[in-house]
Amino acid sequence: MKKRQIKEFEIELFEKNIDNYEEKIDEVYFNKILNFLDKNQKYGVVLEAGCGTGSYGLKFMEYLNFEYLFGVDISKKMIEKFNSKNVKNTKGIAGDIEEEELFTNEKFDTIIFHNILHHFPDLNQVIKSSNKWLKKKGKIIIIEPNGDSLQLIISSSIRKIMTLFMGKNYLIKNQIATPNEINHKYSKYKNIFFKHDLKIIKIKIIENITKNKLYNFKENKLFSLTIFTYGFLWRLFYKLLCLFLPNKYTHNIIMMELNKI
Ligand SMILES: C[S@@+](CC[C@H](N)C(=O)[O-])C[C@H]1O[C@@H](n2cnc3c(N)ncnc32)[C@H](O)[C@@H]1O
Repeated sequence: MKKRQIKEFEIELFEKNIDNYEEKIDEVYFNKILNFLDKNQKYGVVLEAGCGTGSYGLKFMEYLNFEYLFGVDISKKMIEKFNSKNVKNTKGIAGDIEEEELFTNEKFDTIIFHNILHHFPDLNQVIKSSNKWLKKKGKIIIIEPNGDSLQLIISSSIRKIMTLFMGKNYLIKNQIATPNEINHKYSKYKNIFFKHDLKIIKIKIIENITKNKLYNFKENKLFSLTIFTYGFLWRLFYKLLCLFLPNKYTHNIIMMELNKI
């Protein structure tokens, strides 16, 4: 049987850290995303699925032509923060994006997934519900960890070993990840899009070197030392790897634009 997302893990990880939740967006990373997107396009009524506090959706709105931005997140506290920003033509809604009844059919022109799909061990239900909410010829934009990247394959394996020895709650306690997380490979995305009549229009694989600020370094010195050493060695090795391997295996972010057919 396919593994489903355990909702409690998501709420626990993100609400535990809500006060320190990283709001600052790395400009280099953001510009790489912006360069991928078409600035002359009308994006219409947009949904940012798994929007957190809306930091990315709201910033996209500053540069791109959005008619209205809805944000949806399973964490009520994230949505409270989103709505407290009081930006015109935006609305945050608390809800689970696997629930098909959350929105009416064909409500959105565009759906954006930024850093959220890897929180679903199985993508089928989340793509099915989003596709229902998308208008005919609507657009999906995906910016996610690249599951083919060697860097991410290694860090996921380390996480799996940690979970095996320390238990599932260890990851959440140290604000590393939720046990739901899987960095999906391109082949997985391709199959699921094919199944749901979504056509890939554009793909780009980039490197994001923004550090993850969620780690609770002060409280766990052994863990932070391990991460620091691993990070240092990896960066050294990575420079060498980039000389020989294609981006697919060395860069950690995959961006895709899809159309509903
Ligand atoms: C890594 S954060 C990314 C937030 C935002 N997209 C960003 O890039 O800043 C993942 C977010 O997805 C939300 N989330 C996880 N599972 C969800 C679900 N089933 N439905 C809606 N939101 C969900 C979490 O609460 C969290 O805010």
